[in-house]
Amino acid sequence: MAILRSRSFVSDAVNLIARESEAAISARGIFRIALSGGSTPRPVYEALVGMPWEKWEVTFSDERCVPPDSDQSNYNMAKHSLFDRAAIPAANILRMEGERAPAAAAENYERELLARSAPYRHDLVLLGLGEDGHTASLFPETEALRVTDRLVAANFVPKFSSWRLTLTYPLLNAARRVCFLVNSAGKEAVLQGVFSGQSSFPSAAIAPIDGSVTWLLGGSCEGARMDV
Ligand code: 6PG
Repeated sequence: MAILRSRSFVSDAVNLIARESEAAISARGIFRIALSGGSTPRPVYEALVGMPWEKWEVTFSDERCVPPDSDQSNYNMAKHSLFDRAAIPAANILRMEGERAPAAAAENYERELLARSAPYRHDLVLLGLGEDGHTASLFPETEALRVTDRLVAANFVPKFSSWRLTLTYPLLNAARRVCFLVNSAGKEAVLQGVFSGQSSFPSAAIAPIDGSVTWLLGGSCEGARMDV
């Protein structure tokens, strides 16, 4: 686990993504990246320019079960901050169908991934961190935490009384690299818990079998002042 405190969060995140893209394309001719949702990554997506887009294959770490044009949709956020101006081939953007019945959407997404590559392995998974220690849509005390035989799950989240679609630990932990992007206050206790190795936060169980985890902590993140 690498913990990087950044005073230039967006540019450091962009540079990390660019390096992973270059390495993946050089080694395998394709860059498989999973985009995180939430608000933190938006300025990073907006700052991504000049990448070899035609070699990118974009998936999502999770999605809310809403239509793609909803302001709650992670796809919609990525569309406005990245897809509308980056020449990523439409066929290379694998959208989670938040408008469909959750279980069917999860099953279909897994089929789509495996049709591209079996087994499916991301070069880079971007993740966020919630104040309750969730990541993607793996929320504390929810069913998806226990999924070991599927890559994608529909997950009912009681705190929101709503369904989510999420990549599961088997797929997340198959990644070559996971990068958590954290750049907001109020998450220091969770960060301390995760870094202590003593917590049961869902984000603490992200541990790629043959890969690495990087925590990029921006200046707005209280954790940035941590002695890490
Ligand atoms: C989502 C995300 C979720 C997010 C965290 C952090 O769909 O909301 O996937 O896991 O990354 O909740 O969100 P912020 O970046 O907005 O703090």
